Amino acid sequence: MTTRYRVEYALKTHRRDQFIEWVKGLLAVPFVLHSQPTAIFEDRRQTVAQMAAIAHRRYAEIMGDVEELINDHIAHQNVGKQDRSKLKLLVPSVGTFFTPLPLKDAFIFQDAQRSISSRRFVAPSFNDIRLTLNTAQLMSLSRNGPLQLATFDGDVTLYDDGESLSADNPVIPRILRLMQRGVKIGIVTAAGYTEAGKYFDRLSGLLNAVNESKDLSAEQKRNLVVLGGEDNYLFRFNANDPALLSWIPHEEWLMDEMKSWKEEDIGMLLDLAESALKDCIASMNLKAQILRKGRAVGIIPAQGQRFAREQLEETVLVTQKILEMSEVGQRIPFCAFNGGNDIFVDIGDKSWGVLSCQRFFGGIEGSKSLHIGDQFLSAGANDFKARLACTTAWIANPLETVQLLDELEELGECRQLNEESLNAQ
Ligand code: IMP
Ligand code: MG
Repeated sequence: MTTRYRVEYALKTHRRDQFIEWVKGLLAVPFVLHSQPTAIFEDRRQTVAQMAAIAHRRYAEIMGDVEELINDHIAHQNVGKQDRSKLKLLVPSVGTFFTPLPLKDAFIFQDAQRSISSRRFVAPSFNDIRLTLNTAQLMSLSRNGPLQLATFDGDVTLYDDGESLSADNPVIPRILRLMQRGVKIGIVTAAGYTEAGKYFDRLSGLLNAVNESKDLSAEQKRNLVVLGGEDNYLFRFNANDPALLSWIPHEEWLMDEMKSWKEEDIGMLLDLAESALKDCIASMNLKAQILRKGRAVGIIPAQGQRFAREQLEETVLVTQKILEMSEVGQRIPFCAFNGGNDIFVDIGDKSWGVLSCQRFFGGIEGSKSLHIGDQFLSAGANDFKARLACTTAWIANPLETVQLLDELEELGECRQLNEESLNAQ
């Protein structure tokens, strides 16, 4: 049992997305039946093209079927019976879908980019499906749009892990164009600081570009906020502040549920997290330092050290389990995550962060709000919880964020062209 538990759960579940794995399994069947690996030594060029056409049709049909299952799940959601949908039976971990997902169209788009159907040795992969889901989400947002709020994670999404958003980052002009179209922007990051200056140090490229922009109105510039510590500290763009950000008092934005989190409980949860982290440092002999903050506690490596992936995962899973099992962990939401070379436990999580941004901007709906991040595994990852608040896109590095924003822009332009041609008729 122990071995099976460790292999099936501890070592796997938290590193797999159940829905993506399930779709991957469905696409594996046509891959096995129609791929022609022997064509590489049998000179059957015609067959390869035919194979690609057949595989494309079969993959697209399957994606269309999954799309229908999601529509059925949404219909169940709308009457409060999401637990009874067929999709829920097939993939028990599926949550709320804020919009339909045109998966067939998205697959056709991604197949043209990635030649998925032409592959003879490599079956449709996790990344093929992840990117298809992102495209489907963008298509749906732009068809039912317009998008009103885009929130971005920081590390790995906007810039490389531990780096800062510098002036030459290609994401900057793309974010500015979104703002020009009236989209509100939130940087919803775990990085938790109480001073605006610290965020200026991390985000100066974007903040300076917004400040200097001639294309954005003063009102549009104020549509940029930074929500740090997952959901703990809110700052808004302010051209008159030396850090270009000003602190927004909690009374102006905290959700009612967040106001009920007692300081005493917060302290107790952080104490418990700190002792769990200390136990891990001792048991694995980690060269690490504890960092305790007002709304977070974490461990960072001693100077020049790197934690092994296994050490990071073990620490985060142990800490999360201990907190989940505690009484105070039932009263206060928390987020334990693996930050690449550190581990943090924050008070609250990104669902509260995104909900707070939606509320701050006047009550934006989840179906008009998109969170872009890199951490969507179910344990030890902090963007995952944003799925409770809005639509999401799962990227793997900052370049993918740039590509995603280009895709969104193209889809918006196509929609505009279609509307113009309809109006002209
Ligand atoms: P994110 O990817 O933007 O959510 O940022 C995560 C990273 O922020 C972590 O890996 C840490 O290196 C850093 N960080 C700095 N302060 C905090 C904190 O108070 N809580 C969690 N992470 C923090
Ligand atoms: Mg990140």
